[in-house]
Amino acid sequence: MSAETNGLRSRAWFGATGRSGMTHRSWMRNQGFGPEVFDGRPVIGIATTWSELAPCNAHLHRVAEAVKRGVWQAGGFPLEFPAMALGETMLRPTAMFYRNLLAMEAEELMRANPLDGTVLLSGCDKTTPGLLMAAASVDLPSIMVTGGPMLNGKYRGQDVGSGTHVWKFEEDLKTGKMTQEECYFAEGCMARSNGHCMTMGTASTMACVAEALGMQLPGSATWPAVDARRYEIAQEAGRRIVTMVHEDLRPSQIMTREAFENAIRANAAIGGSTNAIVHLLALAGRLGVKLELDDFDALARPVPTLVNLMPSGKYLMEDFCYAGGLPVVLRQLSEAGLLNNEQVTVTGRAIAENNSGAECFNDDVIHSMEEPFQPAGTGTAVLRGNLAPNGAVIKQSAVSPHLLKHEGRALVFDSPEDYHAVSDDPDMDVTESDILVIRYAGPKGYPGMPEVSNVPLPTKLLKAGVTDMVRICDGRMSGTAYGTVVLHVSPEAAVGGPLALVQTGDRITLDVPSRSITLDVSDEELERRRAAWQAPEQKYDSGYAWLYTTHVTQAHEGVDFDFLRGSRGHKVPRESH
Ligand code: FES
Ligand code: MG
Repeated sequence: MSAETNGLRSRAWFGATGRSGMTHRSWMRNQGFGPEVFDGRPVIGIATTWSELAPCNAHLHRVAEAVKRGVWQAGGFPLEFPAMALGETMLRPTAMFYRNLLAMEAEELMRANPLDGTVLLSGCDKTTPGLLMAAASVDLPSIMVTGGPMLNGKYRGQDVGSGTHVWKFEEDLKTGKMTQEECYFAEGCMARSNGHCMTMGTASTMACVAEALGMQLPGSATWPAVDARRYEIAQEAGRRIVTMVHEDLRPSQIMTREAFENAIRANAAIGGSTNAIVHLLALAGRLGVKLELDDFDALARPVPTLVNLMPSGKYLMEDFCYAGGLPVVLRQLSEAGLLNNEQVTVTGRAIAENNSGAECFNDDVIHSMEEPFQPAGTGTAVLRGNLAPNGAVIKQSAVSPHLLKHEGRALVFDSPEDYHAVSDDPDMDVTESDILVIRYAGPKGYPGMPEVSNVPLPTKLLKAGVTDMVRICDGRMSGTAYGTVVLHVSPEAAVGGPLALVQTGDRITLDVPSRSITLDVSDEELERRRAAWQAPEQKYDSGYAWLYTTHVTQAHEGVDFDFLRGSRGHKVPRESH
């Protein structure tokens, strides 16, 4: 034990003499740690979002054990601590409602504790951005280890993808192609190991985004949760974080504007989730990196989709991993001049150098630039128009080609529940050329901007063989879903966005190639409607829901809290005793 500070913030706790140091060390020793752990080695916090209520993250305590091995090996002192586990499939009104709370909780824990560096263990959709946002606002050396995807789902000899097949099975149930008994069996076949969704949903997307941002080790995004290599790479991350502390390599040096550009292009190449947009906007806000919604369209346009994964394609994450994983994609982007090659990553090396040797083992899973899975310009598009003055997004690869340009009659619903109440009615007044408008599902309106935008088609039309319709919503869509769905309409209806002024019977024109979404109603008429519009009553006057609805920002701003933007650093707080 030594009393000198050696530049590590943990020394303010464990290096102190007298009553203060005694208090900090003595209580830690009740866990059986000997006095040698306080000798000035880096203290590494392992933030784990493990919980049995977050099934995608339920194995992270085992991943943490592997990280700890690595930290010990490299001469650090690992200490695991829980951070709010957000289970996408459980939390109501939506896990997104709590992403900022996780980010706020983890940020405060990282700063308040005697930590010199952190390892971020995440998996399910919101846990990855939540922890990255926290790490960005604290700016201590940090490395991410995502928990890895589930093994491919297998049902009746076929691959089934988490999320993606939920929508398919629901349609089959509604049209009588599947019985409820078969469905019970299939749901067990879909999720058959630890891990997060194994489609290119939001969890897999954010794992790849974290790797493309340079925040997790090369190849780390794709190893299945139950693969031995997942634990090997977790151990390697544990070793690496100790060196990162000595190098003082911090998130603000890794997650630069260049890194965000890399992540956006990687997201386009993997056919990633639209949710990456809101998360990256929020994360950039924490780092003071200037990033706007339009950057996503502009940066993605020259990038073809290379990865053939559900929901846009046919394979799953296990296949992506065995084909070579994200390093193959990053190498190809680099060779095509679409990567900021020199951007430093958690390895301490540049991103292009990390991935230069990546080999592709299956070119039907990871296509080449010359023969891409989908051509450049077909990724997620940003739309504007009088219906979405601050933008909206649409995932082109999930769109039916015949609906890319479409004009139709609006059928307006003030909540998903209002729609569901009539959607099974065989006499519902609806045709396949109508446009379903679902509103008051934005950040403030729902609240939490849930994944409700891709409402199932009216049963009457499903039975008639209709497979897609245009839907417009101020909410989000699961990364595992598909369909012609205009998402993230901003401003949302609940704050008086033009979406609130649409009436059933209005004509709406969607024109994806020209990036527009237009409500064919005159400005004068819209003004008249605006004057008559009444804002929804503020439902909450206390608690987290009040904080959320008072401070949440709009979709094009990342849906972070206004007061959490920026970094607040890692200065050691005042003594507690
Ligand atoms: Fe957790 Fe999909 S529900 S990753
Ligand atoms: Mg989701």
